[in-house]
Amino acid sequence: MTPGYGLGFRSLDAEVETSLPVEGSLPAWLSGSLVRNGPALFEVGGRPVAHWFDGLAMLRRFAFDGGRVDYRNRFLRSGAYRTARDGHLVPGFADVGSGDSALARFATLLVTAVTDSVDVPLPRVSRCPARRPADNANVIVERIGGEYVALTEAPYRVAVDPETLATLGTVRPNLPRGHLTCAHLHHDRETGEVVGYDTRFGHPSRYLVHATAASGERRLLASLAVRDPSYMHSFALTPNYVVLTEFPLVVDPLDLLRPDRRDAFIDAYRWEPERGTRVTVLDRRTGGVVARPVADPLFGFHHVNAFERGDELVCDLVTFPDPSPVEGMYLDVLRGEAYEAPGGALTRLRIELRARGTPPISMETRYDGGITLPRLSPRVRGREHRYVYGQGTHERVTDFAHEVVKVDATTGETRRFSRDGWYFGEPVFVPAPRPAAEDEGVALTVALDVDAGHSWLVVLDGEAFEERARAALPHAVPFDFHGQFFPELGSGR
Ligand SMILES: [Fe+2]
Repeated sequence: MTPGYGLGFRSLDAEVETSLPVEGSLPAWLSGSLVRNGPALFEVGGRPVAHWFDGLAMLRRFAFDGGRVDYRNRFLRSGAYRTARDGHLVPGFADVGSGDSALARFATLLVTAVTDSVDVPLPRVSRCPARRPADNANVIVERIGGEYVALTEAPYRVAVDPETLATLGTVRPNLPRGHLTCAHLHHDRETGEVVGYDTRFGHPSRYLVHATAASGERRLLASLAVRDPSYMHSFALTPNYVVLTEFPLVVDPLDLLRPDRRDAFIDAYRWEPERGTRVTVLDRRTGGVVARPVADPLFGFHHVNAFERGDELVCDLVTFPDPSPVEGMYLDVLRGEAYEAPGGALTRLRIELRARGTPPISMETRYDGGITLPRLSPRVRGREHRYVYGQGTHERVTDFAHEVVKVDATTGETRRFSRDGWYFGEPVFVPAPRPAAEDEGVALTVALDVDAGHSWLVVLDGEAFEERARAALPHAVPFDFHGQFFPELGSGR
């Protein structure tokens, strides 16, 4: 029997635009839009997709203004989405796709080869030249320059209208020319740059770190050769350094690029714990390697934050002992009664930068009660932080995320919020204007109420971590991945 939270892994067809009835009180200062992204179509051509990561992207927008909330949801009309509506699944993270998947993969490689020979930005195209473009950008929405784009780990950006959520077109950035990209970018508040990295497979493969200025101009910060690239979903950034945490889930690029491969992308990766976790610290100005210590083997998706403290670099991330969370997010596992939440620990790495080369690295667990999808105040990114917000899986470990948590990273002290029968998405922290404290603000999350059969927008006080408002959605929204709050986007009314 499918557990109650299975409703959060059921496709949602309805696209609506409506005002939400607010219970409680919203802060008068809360103005802007929370735009969330995640899968919402889990069947293609009459068969289910295999993995949560391969559901087709839907955007959800919550516009706050003057105490009211307007809601809108819309599928991302990517090439992958249109192909899915035609009954064919594009090869994705853990799904080989339907029909001629090897041919589709080969077509994608050809497109990559062609676009790699182009040294000017590609014109925006409404449909990628590959017959089955891997542009199912279901991870997050970011603002880059003046453009809002949905992102995933394939190197395509799908431009969207942040007001209407209409899809404007797919773009493949021309620099750097990676095969795999990081959807979790960093906005440098000092320089205005957006920093990210791509992985380019080859001999050797390379991690390509890049920065995009507000003008749209992109420059390469670092190009690091690597033999067996690691699967890394995010990274960390400080004023002076880029931190790449290379978990020992690695791939031989030849295995990945073979056009006759019949298994899925992630199946090509191997868990080799004997490698340990190599933490590469790159100098943002020179692109050079500052330090490359090796820690115990770990796996993780999300860095929380990193900061410099004297000669020390501190990096917090959510970790797991091994990559079993990848297996745990196949939909038949998530929907099954034997599902076990992966837990997730808040882990602090500390590197002594004065000892160049291979300096000692210490690893300390700050919280191990179960945390995923960590967020913190955007005001402290790259600086010393204290509070981390996340999905929580404490206690009932055979259940999906039944709470959200606020962890004091300095003490491990934790506050929790839950309601019977509710299952939560990532809490997005929005700071109050000119906050007197790091946690002065609100945490915005979406909770699925399985008894009521619909979701709620939930507004939590950032300090007390108690509910201050909620608003019922007209339907049950599938669990999503990430949201971003854009203060410049009011309700538009
Ligand atoms: Fe993520």
